[in-house]
Amino acid sequence: MKKALFIYSFFLISVTTFSQQEAEVIVNADLGQYNIDKHIYGHFSEHLGRCIYDGLWVGENSSIPNINGVRKDIIDALKHIKIPNLRWPGGCFADEYHWMDGIGARENRPKMVNTHWGGVVEDNSFGTHEFLNLCEALGTEPYICGNMGSGTVEEMSKWVEYITFDGESPMANLRKKNGREKPWKVQFWGVGNENWGCGGNMTAEGYAENYRRYATYTRDYGDNQLYKIAGGPNVDDYHWMTTMMKNIPHRMMKGVSLHNYAFTRRWEDKGDATGFSEDDYFSLLEHGSRMDNLIIRHSAIMDLYDPAKKIGLIVDEWGAWYNVEKNTNPGFLFQQNTLRDAILAGLVLNTFHKHADRVKMANIAQLVNVLQALFLTEGEKMLLTPTYHVFDMYKVHQDATMLPTVVKCGTYNRLNKKLDAISVSASKDKNGKVHISFVNIDPVNSIDIDCNIRGLIGGKLTSVNIITATNTDSHNTFDNPNIVHIEDYKGATYKNGVLTLKMPSKSLMTVELN
Ligand code: AHR
Repeated sequence: MKKALFIYSFFLISVTTFSQQEAEVIVNADLGQYNIDKHIYGHFSEHLGRCIYDGLWVGENSSIPNINGVRKDIIDALKHIKIPNLRWPGGCFADEYHWMDGIGARENRPKMVNTHWGGVVEDNSFGTHEFLNLCEALGTEPYICGNMGSGTVEEMSKWVEYITFDGESPMANLRKKNGREKPWKVQFWGVGNENWGCGGNMTAEGYAENYRRYATYTRDYGDNQLYKIAGGPNVDDYHWMTTMMKNIPHRMMKGVSLHNYAFTRRWEDKGDATGFSEDDYFSLLEHGSRMDNLIIRHSAIMDLYDPAKKIGLIVDEWGAWYNVEKNTNPGFLFQQNTLRDAILAGLVLNTFHKHADRVKMANIAQLVNVLQALFLTEGEKMLLTPTYHVFDMYKVHQDATMLPTVVKCGTYNRLNKKLDAISVSASKDKNGKVHISFVNIDPVNSIDIDCNIRGLIGGKLTSVNIITATNTDSHNTFDNPNIVHIEDYKGATYKNGVLTLKMPSKSLMTVELN
């Protein structure tokens, strides 16, 4: 009887002590296997709305401080977050872009209509030289997306020759005539964009067949080795992925891309970037969390045809997509950026870490003034969005070894669905520092976390950074640019291998143990 009572009370204690506001985590600090490729922290700049013009490019004669025509404030901020690569010129724009329109004296460059994005005039003042010089100034790797949809094999082949050939040839000579003696180095090369849609409305089979021709004539010159990326599926089009893996010889591609955006409600009414309801808050995060499942399913197909995991999954467009801000050009995709977007970014980056064995690169859309931007500009003013601060706080994970984690936590429930209340990811860098990033998506409840670090000898708590704010739609404005930012957090302890912290509602944290 006594024994039964003991067992009963033990059971009662163990079920009642774990509540929605608690979480247990294990980090295996000595069992890391995969590198978190720094290129998953990549960015995307398209000739769309005010991303290139007004956003990055102001021209050499602008009163706004610039380096060779590009805003200096943005260059400095991108260096600070160690931007690893930058994708350009699109997006849908890439398959309408004819690179020869964007070289030579600017005053002689032809003007074109940007039919995809607002029907505005594109004067081609930002072209190949301006982009590659920007990448050099940033110390980042260019990722060029070539035109398959409305271009030719010859045009793409000559673009590679123009940029990378070091010797005597018609394209190399033209480059020299335009002021650049030495070739640039370009590794990442996309063969078209969304060729199932804006890039030509092709079938998977038709695209794969074309890819083989384009890939044949985009050459490696000297020691410049192209990392060719096949245009991949739209969201959950598994037939497309299967066809790429089956019909393209693996020696001809290094990666296959995947595009997936998060929005609330439905595509026709994506919800607003600010002033949203709690249902919309949940809905956006629920939609964004599907990235995990998508990667699992696409990776399964890739594993079947490429078990050695030589081909990378390249998520070269991701982020939140809302209704455009009132009184802005609908073709410019301009939206504000709130704490909700920071939380989405943390969740998705944690997901990329988890799949470090297959996800080798990713590009959030887009860099400035478009979709889930890191920067908003207005004349000479520039602000850092909450999403920028996540890239800043998470940069410690670039090229670090992913550490396996196990999480037991409560759920955040809404709309008859459930999401894990916290998301966790950890890595160990080359100097042995362990970084653990936590996201608490619950908009109301703080969560007490006990995190056991296994396999770490010694180790001290050296810093804890936090991003949070009063409301889920708190955001930075030109009048108040610092509402959402990174702060030091003092409420954590690390003792006998256990990290203990109380995570405020709707917050992101990165802990460093050294
Ligand atoms: O990022 C905006 C657009 O979204 C891109 O141009 C296109 O590739 C995608 O549909």
